[in-house]
Amino acid sequence: GGLKPFYNEAMVDFTRADHRAAFPKEIAEVRKQLGKTYPLFINGKEVKTADTIPSVNPNKPSETIGVICQAGTKEVGDAIQAAKKAFPAWRDTDPKDRAQYLIKAAAVARRRIFELSAWQVLEIGKQWDQAYADVCEAIDFLEYYAREMITLGTPKRVGNAPGELNHYFYEPKGVAAVIAPWNFPLAISLGMASAAIVAGNCVVFKPSGITSVIGYHIVELFREVGLPEGVFNYTPGRGSVMGDFLVDSPDVSLIAFTGSMEVGLRIIDRAAKVYPGQENVKKIVCEMGGKNAIIIDDDADLDEAVPHVLYSAFGFQGQKCSACSRVIVLDAVYDKFVERLVSMAQATLVGPSEDPANYMGAVADDKAMKTIKEYAEIGKKEGHVLYESKVPSDGGFYVPMTIIGGIKPEHRIAQEEIFGPVLAVMRAKDFDQAIEWANSTKFALTGGVFSRSPEHLTQARRQFRVGNLYLNRNNTGALVGRQPFGGSKMSGVGTKAGGHDYLLHFMDPRVVTENT
Ligand code: SER
Repeated sequence: GGLKPFYNEAMVDFTRADHRAAFPKEIAEVRKQLGKTYPLFINGKEVKTADTIPSVNPNKPSETIGVICQAGTKEVGDAIQAAKKAFPAWRDTDPKDRAQYLIKAAAVARRRIFELSAWQVLEIGKQWDQAYADVCEAIDFLEYYAREMITLGTPKRVGNAPGELNHYFYEPKGVAAVIAPWNFPLAISLGMASAAIVAGNCVVFKPSGITSVIGYHIVELFREVGLPEGVFNYTPGRGSVMGDFLVDSPDVSLIAFTGSMEVGLRIIDRAAKVYPGQENVKKIVCEMGGKNAIIIDDDADLDEAVPHVLYSAFGFQGQKCSACSRVIVLDAVYDKFVERLVSMAQATLVGPSEDPANYMGAVADDKAMKTIKEYAEIGKKEGHVLYESKVPSDGGFYVPMTIIGGIKPEHRIAQEEIFGPVLAVMRAKDFDQAIEWANSTKFALTGGVFSRSPEHLTQARRQFRVGNLYLNRNNTGALVGRQPFGGSKMSGVGTKAGGHDYLLHFMDPRVVTENT
């Protein structure tokens, strides 16, 4: 039988007692498993190394989530060779059969959904709903790319000249390096990896060092469904030790990366060099940062705008490339909007993510905490503090929820990605100026407009040049298939995760013409 049409996995529903009860229960279950040592996974086998690093709960750094074996260049080399060896057979596996592994992995993730969410609450400090949303998105990627590959896997006839038969079809590229961030530790990792795999490539996966236990869940999912050995290899490691080695390898044909602009541009630069024995020009699928703005028009519905801006800016501590970090408010409503935003912010609590009373929790690690605090200080000099929350002083990596007014386009906090809970508020004289300011950064990822003016919404559609523009709603939480996600300019190379074009980046098209 065929597959049902794609639909998005349903969000968690806290009106249901069973959903509410599941989180404390699963968090307690996960706590019993903390501190285990996690091996690498290469060519279908677990591999231990002497070099390990702990992964900790950002809300409570004394709590070790797991101890992660670190791959050095030897192990990464072994993983690349395993992927290379597995490639011909995987390439020649029917795309429909490849897709079935993803469908089965989605079923496993669905069965484990609360448990996988609980790990995210503890390893990276996601709130319950944020954690569940990440697992839903991971499931969506598996289901969506499986269906996309089934469609793309059938050669298409092109042209209609008499006497010839043309077939257009796709083939995978080979060994794919997948380098993932910590902020959507299952969804983005599995999204990139499953796209590569279903297209017929074999993967060497480097999770972020601070979410490597969640990264290991991908090993568990693919093992349970019997993915052939060597098709997915898990090699967490120190970027400084193995990052360049992986990117430079002549046997890597494709690099899928999501993370900071600095690292992304470095990968693009290094990947341009061709080494002896290299057969392919390396293809880069690269998603980087954002400096996303929401415009508040003078006729905006503030009942909608205020909570949506707060959520877009501070959901998961603002640690999303999609997060709103600038709100550009028209002069006529600036004071009213700011007063209402601040009063809503005052009503929120900051504390451990595992307690659903808290709107915001700790940031990813001590390095992030330090950088974000530095930016908050810069912002305080450039503008003035409208709101700064209290934070627990229990050793967690907390940064206050910070709202800074009086920011102008030339200020650093209006230009540089902070990746944390610092929101710049800017006063624009009219809608044209708001659009101009919105576009005035090197990024082009997400944006938002709250307006009741059809003309302004039309103008924004054309002139607010971002990859994902949201009109009269929050600008995070893109859904697979509904909001294919990704930006251009310094936000990335223009690919759309969860969209129809995405898999095409993981394959080479071929055409066969027969004279008939
Ligand atoms: N896809 C996420 C969002 O839309 C960001 O990576 O929030």
